[in-house]
Order: sequence, then structure tokens, then C-alpha cells
Amino acid sequence: MKKLLIAAFLIGGLITSCAPITKDSQPTASIEPNGIDVHTYSNTKEIRTVHLHLDLDVNFENHTIYGIARHEMNPHTCDTAVFDIKGLAINKVTLGKEKSKEKETEYVIGEDDELLGQSLAVKITKDTKYINIYYQTTEKTEALDWLEPSLTAGKKHPYMYTQGQAILTRSWIPLQDTPMNRISYSADVKVPAGLLAIMSASNPEKKSANGMYHFEMKQRIPAYLIALAVGDMEYTSLGDNCGVYSEPELVEACEYEFADLSKMIEAAESIYGEYRWDQYDLVILPYSFPFGGMENPRLTFANPTIIAGDRSMTSVIAHELAHSWSGNLVTNATWNDFWLNEGFTVYFENRIMEKLYGKESADILALIEFQDLESELDRMKDSDHPEDSQLKLQLDLRSPDDGMTDIPYIKGAFFLRTLEAAVGREKFDVFLKGYFDAHAFKTITTEDFVAYLNKELLKPNSISFNTKEWIYETGLPDNCVTLKSDRLDKMKNLAGRVNKGENVFIGSLANAKRSDFISQEWQTFIRGLEPTISNETMNRIDDQFKFSTEGNPALKSDWFHLAVKSGNKKLRPEAAAYLKKIGRRWYIESIYQACRDSEDPDDLVWGKSVFTEAQKNYHFVSKNTIQEILYE
Ligand code: BES
Ligand code: ZN
Repeated sequence: MKKLLIAAFLIGGLITSCAPITKDSQPTASIEPNGIDVHTYSNTKEIRTVHLHLDLDVNFENHTIYGIARHEMNPHTCDTAVFDIKGLAINKVTLGKEKSKEKETEYVIGEDDELLGQSLAVKITKDTKYINIYYQTTEKTEALDWLEPSLTAGKKHPYMYTQGQAILTRSWIPLQDTPMNRISYSADVKVPAGLLAIMSASNPEKKSANGMYHFEMKQRIPAYLIALAVGDMEYTSLGDNCGVYSEPELVEACEYEFADLSKMIEAAESIYGEYRWDQYDLVILPYSFPFGGMENPRLTFANPTIIAGDRSMTSVIAHELAHSWSGNLVTNATWNDFWLNEGFTVYFENRIMEKLYGKESADILALIEFQDLESELDRMKDSDHPEDSQLKLQLDLRSPDDGMTDIPYIKGAFFLRTLEAAVGREKFDVFLKGYFDAHAFKTITTEDFVAYLNKELLKPNSISFNTKEWIYETGLPDNCVTLKSDRLDKMKNLAGRVNKGENVFIGSLANAKRSDFISQEWQTFIRGLEPTISNETMNRIDDQFKFSTEGNPALKSDWFHLAVKSGNKKLRPEAAAYLKKIGRRWYIESIYQACRDSEDPDDLVWGKSVFTEAQKNYHFVSKNTIQEILYE
């Protein structure tokens, strides 16, 4: 019976003005349902959500969220609304002209695509204002990380958090999962009493007695920025409009590490204008969080690896804060335009660091990035996808994750730095401030940006600039600005001498200490070392400077990478402990990659055995990447 009803609805769809959803023309990855974004099935051109209300019950016993996604739609003339889902169980869908009156309706779930998930086509009428989707998450839900107490700092309570970017929100909420549409949202969330729930929205400062929490996000945001974290957390204020959520065990460390947060917000505002999201808080998640930071609006999600103990990782916060302008205020329309989010953010991050800590520090950070960019470009030239070094990406039929390389981030930032050099900082800042104002709370494509750039900056100043080459061609244009740092050059030299077999840590450097150099200097040193380095030399350096056991986790990542590449087995226990503790993808993937690429088959065996144990502490995002590295 149900099948027949669905068939009738499908045929009905053929004779309407909306894109019909028929068996033959089920939306698939090769169809672009809304014309531009290839990573969504939703028909946002015809009908779109304007406000989403979530009723959520977060159940830690069976690792399931039971939810109702109440979509308020715009005025339309459609008989079908298409949503994205992935790994969700849909229980029923109801419609209403008003909020309180619900009537069940039919829906069709499309074929399962490994990357995009499924389309959920709901039969509606022209006067449908509310679409309510009753659903639950499953063990296939990729956005959610459910952590046993042993994987938290306190080890007493379980923890759960979501990661939506790029296209994972559809795996915990049925919605139109495209950055092309912006929505406001509200939520009523029930969690076990004793735990705190926080979202990318207005947040509680204290736990409620009954585990019920209400949230409002009044500004319109893209779906990938809806986020939730639940755990044993406390709030620590760090200024008038900023603070940090963390497990109680981390409060003191957070207070020290993020003491400059207020100043950072002030610095950002002084460059590109008012912070428009009222409150700026951080939440320090467990170590499994797959990123350094994620710019969920009003509430940056951060990995505890940024608590280095010496404030050496605060540029990650500058980065996520900068996204409050580039990314959250002005959003990439599709994942092919990702550089509009990340390139602008890396540029702005550096400006914030310069304002707070001076030009020398900021240049050192940018130079380290430039080294990364050079090796990325080198690798890409001979890869299956050399076109990935264009700023404007072509990710059709590929995961948006494939675009998360140094290109959108660093080539993007150097494009803006080169533009800045061509017109002068003063004019460039006026232009960028105007850009954020003109596009606030909008989503834009690369082409929109180019048109705006020509009209507002290049034409009025009669400047000819190779914009097309920067954006649509591979590699790095010749006019890219260059930076120099004597301090980093010195470290490169030092590494060069080690590579030649010289014992540099006798004589003047015999008493050198770790604290004699900042972590970026050490990073340059470690990256300058060749894999031909002998075990003996590496172990001696490690004894003196303790890279494997102390301090900055970014350095550890580089050090263990070198250990695998140089065949150093002595450092394996420390490397294994690191890989089991930390789930931040950029830190761990290079180590596993070295295991895979090693000529010694024992390295891959070792990597696989570490991964087998470590993966319970990895979010899907990292697990999936490492699985591919080791097994495909
Ligand atoms: N928005 C990104 C993280 C992201 C990108 C998640 C694409 C999923 C898909 C975030 O702002 C970011 O870039 N984080 C970096 C910070 C670094 C560049 C300072 C990270 O996690 O390392
Ligand atoms: Zn970013």
C-alpha cells in the first residue's frame, strides 16, 4: 500500500513546476539539483528552510539522538521539498500550515550514495509552511563522536560532540545541507542530568537541574555551522563577551593559555569592523576532535592540543575568530569556493597575530605556512589531481574533504597578501572591510568575489592584476610576495649541517636548551632534517631537547614523522602513545602516511597495530582518512 502511494506521489511530481523527483531522475551526484552546489540533493532554488527548530533527546546509553527537525519554509509554489540525509533513520514526516497542526505526509528516500548520502523528497502542497521530520541517528552517523569517560580529561562522564563541516550535518540532522542557504535555528535539547549541553548559539553558563536546555541562533548561518557538544563542562569567563567551556580539570590551564582572548577580539575588530555575533566563546573538546579548531559561530570548537602551556598555539584561536568574518559572515557558496573561507581566514589570522605580537612573529608564522605550501605544490604536481592546486576547485563527484589542502588555505592567503602589496595596505583594508559589509550574512561564489574585486579595488585604482592566473591556474604565480626571516634561515642552516654529518650540538650549542628557540624555529629545524639522519644522531637530539616527550604537539608530529622516515624504532613507544592520545587529523596522518610509504614493511605492520587500538579515540573524519591511508 505504502509503495503505491509513493508511486502516485512520484507521478504527481511530474506535472508540477518544481523539479520532479521520479524514479528515473532520482537526484544523484551527477545532477546539480540547485544548479551550483554539487554536494547537495536539496532543491533550494525552489523551496528553502528559513528557520529550523530542533527537538533533540541525546541518549548516551544507546548512542542515539532522537530528533524532530521542524523546518519553517519560505513562500513557494512547490509540491516537493528535497532534503539531504546520511545514515539517518526517518520515522515519519508531517506538514503544517501552522506550527501546532501536523498531518502526516509521504516521502521518498533516494539511493544511498557513499559520499552524499540520500535524498529525502517530501510531498508537500503550495501552502505548506512547516515540514517536521521525525528521525533518529544510527551507528552510521558520521558527524557524532560518542566518547566513553576514559577518553575525557575527567574520566568520569561520557562526552559527545558533532562535526558538521563540510557535509556531515546531514548525518545528524535532516536538512538542506548546502552552504548556499542560510537559516536561523533554535533547539530544545534533553541530555542526562549532570551534563552540560552547548551549541553554536546562545549558551547556558551553568548546568540545568533536569538536563533540559534551550538554544537560539538568531543570525542566519549555513547548515555546516550547526553544532552541539555535551559533557561535564564548566564555563570560565575571560572578558565581557568571551570565555571558555572546558572540563573542570582544564579550567586553570585554559585561563592561562587564553588570557589574551579579549585583546584578540579587539584586535580583529580594529582591522575589519565590529564582531557581529555578540558572544565569542571557546569549548575545549576531548583529544579525539579531528581538527585544531572549528569556527562554529559564537562557540569555537577546539582540540586540547592547542593548550601547549606556553601560549604557542594561539594562532589557531586567531584563525577560528577570523572566521567570524570570513566564512561565517561571508560564506563560500559551494565547497569549490572553499578558499573564500580559508584563504581569507589565514590572511586575517596573520593580521591579528601581527597586531598582537608584532611583524616578526607574524612573518615567521607566514613563512612556515609558505614552506608547507611549497611541499604541497610539489606533491600535487605529480598526483592524480594536479588541478587541485587551483584556488577555484572542481570537486564534482569527489569529497569536499579532498579540497582541504594547503591550497585554499595558504595559496589563498598569499593571493591576498600579493594583492595587498600591489595596492598598499590602507586601500586593501578599506576594500576588505567593505567586502565583509557588502556580503554580510550572504553566501558568495569565487566569481562574485572577482566581480567585486574588479569593481571596488582594481578598476578604481587602475591596477592590472593576474587574478585569473591566481584563481583558475595551477601552481604559484611568479608575482607571489616573498618573506624572509633570519631566525628561520639560521635553523635551516643548522639542519643542513646535521644533514652533512656534523655534530652541531657540541661546542657553542652543547648547552643549548629547548627554550632557546620558539617552536616555529624548532619546526623549521626538524623539517630541514633529511630522513638519512642516523638513529644515533636523532636519539642524541631527542635526549637534549625532548621533542618526543615534552611540549608542543605540532613538533611531536613532525618528530615522529621523521622517526618513521629515518627508520628510528627507539621512538616507537612515544609515537604510539601520541597516536593513541591525539585524534587531530593533520598531526597524525603524516605519521601513518610515512608508515605506509616506508620501504620497511614492518613500519606498516606497526602503523596498523597502533591504529587498531587508537581508532576508538578517533572521530569518523580522522578514522576514515587513516583507514584509507593504511588499507587502500
Ligand atoms: N574550518 C576549518 C576546519 C575544517 C575545514 C573542517 C574543512 C572540516 C572541513 C578550521 O577553521 C580550520 O581550518 N582548522 C585548522 C586550523 C589551522 C589552519 C590554524 C586546523 O584544524 O588545523
Ligand atoms: Zn579555517
